[in-house]
Amino acid sequence: MSLFGKKEKGEHKIVRQYQERGGDKLQPEYHRATPECPNPSRWHMYDGMTAEVEVLEFLRCLITTFKPNLVVETGTFMGVSTVWMAEGMKQNGFGKIITCEFDPKVFATAKERIQASGFGDWVEHRNESSLDMKIDGQIDILFTDSDLGVREAEVRKFLPQMNPNGIILMHDASSHLKIVREAAKKLEAEGLISVILLPTPRGLVIAQKRQGRT
Ligand SMILES: C[S@@+](CC[C@H](N)C(=O)[O-])C[C@H]1O[C@@H](n2cnc3c(N)ncnc32)[C@H](O)[C@@H]1O
Repeated sequence: MSLFGKKEKGEHKIVRQYQERGGDKLQPEYHRATPECPNPSRWHMYDGMTAEVEVLEFLRCLITTFKPNLVVETGTFMGVSTVWMAEGMKQNGFGKIITCEFDPKVFATAKERIQASGFGDWVEHRNESSLDMKIDGQIDILFTDSDLGVREAEVRKFLPQMNPNGIILMHDASSHLKIVREAAKKLEAEGLISVILLPTPRGLVIAQKRQGRT
């Protein structure tokens, strides 16, 4: 859609549709089939940006299973994955998620949603780029979900701060989307991380830092 002669940014279009509808729309996942995930419509999604619903469930479950003190998320979008993880943290009774979104318009929507969710106390949301983000202390879970092209740089940036027993997640790592999958394999080939390529519709890398692993 063109607004005032300018092409509307994908993220803004989804935010606008969400606001016009007054809520999320649960639907079958529509990302294309891949050799590793031939039936994507068995999964569910709210929109093409927010992680698959089953991945959201997995994130919440990972929080309650692993009980992290600090989670860092890159790419808040509307805050849906943030809120699912925060729900796990509320159940744990401790922990913090630091999430960043560099688009001010998208960030404003995320802020509203996080505050309205009832899980805002577990979240520090920042309107900044992941590559400028400064984090104090050890990261237990890193969930990278920003632009595809910066994911490798994000993992390299935060790797020294990763808990060696922690988890690195890289979303959008399907063989169709390629960039993130290749980045994860490259980091593995360099001996920096060990990866599992989870065959979800958009692909999810589950990784661990090699150095310092007990
Ligand atoms: C795929 S969406 C995130 C979806 C969200 N994690 C979820 O599942 O609910 C990616 C978001 O990252 C933002 N983004 C892209 N590159 C970024 C960067 N380098 N730093 C911060 N935000 C970024 C985009 O504006 C977009 O809103």
